[in-house]
Amino acid sequence: MAAVDEPELAEAHLRQLLGSLGLDVNYVRGQANTLYFLDDGREHAVVDFVGGYGSLIFGHNNPTLVAYAKQLLDAQIPFHAQFSYHPYANDLATALNRVHRREFRTDENYRAIFANSGAEAVETALKHAEMDRSIRLAALGEEIHGHVEEAQAAVAAGSAVVADHAYDELGVTDRSAGALERLVEAIHQHNEPRFLRQPLFLTLEGSFHGKLAGSLQLTHNSAYRLPFRALAAQARFLPFDQPGAVEKVLDEERTYVYDVVMRDGVVDVTERELPVIGGFFVEPIQGEGGIHEVGVDMAQAIRAAADTAGFPVILDEIQSGVGRSGAFFAGSHIGLRGDYYVLAKSLGGGLSKLSVLLVRDSLYRPDFELLHSSTFAKDAFSCHLGRKVVEMLEADGGSAYGRVIERGARLRAALERIRSTFPDVVKDCRGRGLMLGLEFQDQSTCDDEIIASNARNGLIGYVLAGYLLREHRVRVFPTASASHTLRFEPSVELTDDEIGQLESGLEATCRLLRERAGARLVGAA
Ligand code: F0G
Repeated sequence: MAAVDEPELAEAHLRQLLGSLGLDVNYVRGQANTLYFLDDGREHAVVDFVGGYGSLIFGHNNPTLVAYAKQLLDAQIPFHAQFSYHPYANDLATALNRVHRREFRTDENYRAIFANSGAEAVETALKHAEMDRSIRLAALGEEIHGHVEEAQAAVAAGSAVVADHAYDELGVTDRSAGALERLVEAIHQHNEPRFLRQPLFLTLEGSFHGKLAGSLQLTHNSAYRLPFRALAAQARFLPFDQPGAVEKVLDEERTYVYDVVMRDGVVDVTERELPVIGGFFVEPIQGEGGIHEVGVDMAQAIRAAADTAGFPVILDEIQSGVGRSGAFFAGSHIGLRGDYYVLAKSLGGGLSKLSVLLVRDSLYRPDFELLHSSTFAKDAFSCHLGRKVVEMLEADGGSAYGRVIERGARLRAALERIRSTFPDVVKDCRGRGLMLGLEFQDQSTCDDEIIASNARNGLIGYVLAGYLLREHRVRVFPTASASHTLRFEPSVELTDDEIGQLESGLEATCRLLRERAGARLVGAA
């Protein structure tokens, strides 16, 4: 309870913005797809299609999960037992692997490193990929060093001479006494900065991988990213649906260092390719970017490039995973298998903050476990809950996935009806399972100034959200990166009535947009 004479100190600036849109509601209770707020001492229900930004595949306070959580607390399982044996973490890793083996028809295991939030799991992936790359770099550096020493010894012993080509290649013009040392120095001058350069990560336009120092560099939205670009290794953002762009970027980024070769008593130099790409991060279905599914051709191009060049494909299934798409891993729909996966959001069952990095066994560096840790990660409560979530999805032959598909199809049909009734207002309807988006036509040149100015400021989606909440008790949001796309990520408990309530709300919204009734949308008329 805020004291009257105290200033509001927890993100008051954000709350003021939410308040101006009618979105600063204090929800006091949540159950399934319903959030409740109090007014006049009474609870008022709001149908929630935001679903914790996709964290609630089983809904708010799912009774089975709540009962299980209570059971865990009653049993006094230790939250904090760091640096001890965590069989429950292993159980969850095993459960995730079982699902992965089935969906991707593979025998290979993935090792698990647990974390607490989505961005943290992404940063853990960044670190593991960089550890792997730096070990490969060091091995290459040592190999080259060994070759240089062998050549120096052979030349000193008079059993080898240096080819003119080597001097020419490195621009060593003075070939008098000590020329080999000058060549070695020139090789060092060329190689050193290349060995020390930061890795480059690849991802797609529209991507969202988090907002921490490293993960933010992989998040496309420049408003979020650019002020902090100096903090960590950079990414290149490839066009979302241009498979040819993958090879092109690899060609542009290809980096060579010089090695020394000795053949038939002749010392020469040769180029070796340096591993500069740290990894390719992909959301199989982009969430924050406005619900875009990666195409099969793009997925194949990414997979093929990674296999050839030897960098990992890191599938960010934080939002699309854990059942939301109608499969556990959304990548399975497009045949895109990751070398790494990151999962979070729904994995914690809506009751705990749990995330995990999975790394393919053959690429896993066990020493990572000695270098990386987090106080809260791998705790018993979250791991037990995560395992329960996987069990609930997998129960009855995976009937929950079927429900996601069936409920998703119902919701999709409602959105499609809206689109076909209001093509002048609604541009597109996209997504899979219970991860759907409705894109509105650009309204920035609308002749209603309220609508047009909000569209220009990127706030139109929030204006529509404010209207839907105020007038229809429906909670939806656009995203900062797709300001006129509304995103729908309800739980599998979605009812026909809830869909109906959304549909009539959207109908009314579209009618007001069609009538250019901006004042009514913002509640000023
Ligand atoms: N990766 C994806 C695909 C995400 O959707 C998110 C968060 C993150 C990483 C970061 O996770 O917030 O737990 O650190 N997405 C939210 C959204 C914020 O609006 O879609 P986090």
